[in-house]
Amino acid sequence: MKDPVIEIERDVKESFQEGKPLPEGFEITKYQPAEGMVMQMFSTPFLRGKLELDVEEVAMSSRHILSQVEQGDVNTEYTTYFDEDARVSMHGQEWFQQFSDQIKDSYVAFISNVFQIPVSHLSRDDIHLFAWLNRYTGPHQHATHNHVNSHISGTYYIKTEKSNQPIKFLNPNMGAIANHLAVDRPMEREGYPHILFSGVNGCDSSFEYFPQEGEFLFWPSYIQHAVEPSQERIEDYERITLSFNLKHRPIIDNNQTGRDMPYEFLEENIDHGR
Ligand SMILES: [Fe+2]
Repeated sequence: MKDPVIEIERDVKESFQEGKPLPEGFEITKYQPAEGMVMQMFSTPFLRGKLELDVEEVAMSSRHILSQVEQGDVNTEYTTYFDEDARVSMHGQEWFQQFSDQIKDSYVAFISNVFQIPVSHLSRDDIHLFAWLNRYTGPHQHATHNHVNSHISGTYYIKTEKSNQPIKFLNPNMGAIANHLAVDRPMEREGYPHILFSGVNGCDSSFEYFPQEGEFLFWPSYIQHAVEPSQERIEDYERITLSFNLKHRPIIDNNQTGRDMPYEFLEENIDHGR
């Protein structure tokens, strides 16, 4: 790395020797920043992984399931999210059972390794996995949103070769980013293939992940994200993904104070399903 002290000292001396006038009271001095290490603190954990599934088989089955969804509305025709019959019809597929097992196990590993959340009281059935298929064929997009009533969200990328829509994630700490006055600079980083950051290291406004078939991502559900419209026409455009929300039954203690009472008599008016 270049030594800024020497460089600046030379520049100042050269300027002086060339006879450029110096402002009154100006003295030749050294640029002397203290030595130090920049610490990028308070990160947001994402998980990027690969599932052991045959994407060709999953793609074929996904196309079949998605063909049941009513066509005509560009906002809903590409997904099983709004069609409960089509959505749950994938649950009986062998590939989906393998998907569910691998995703639930990955969730348990993630929350216990990263957040140290207790998991030994859980079985796979204590993990809520709400999943829906999506197939973009050109005119489809998804505006910026996040997922409520969920802990970790994610997407599994099934068929993306003939597509060009990355998923874009926004920094949840935008207020602090603005205060840093950092510039937004598109940049790639070693160790993060197929990801384009926008910002400076440790101070990014957003990043875009360009999907790779067979990979999946986990992110905290509160993170805002979007799939922006496709910018160029690709023949036989196809982007098949499986998105999901995850949460689990937490363990509680200090729960046996006072007298117990079931709350069943209260009217159920909240949909906990998604
Ligand atoms: Fe989403």
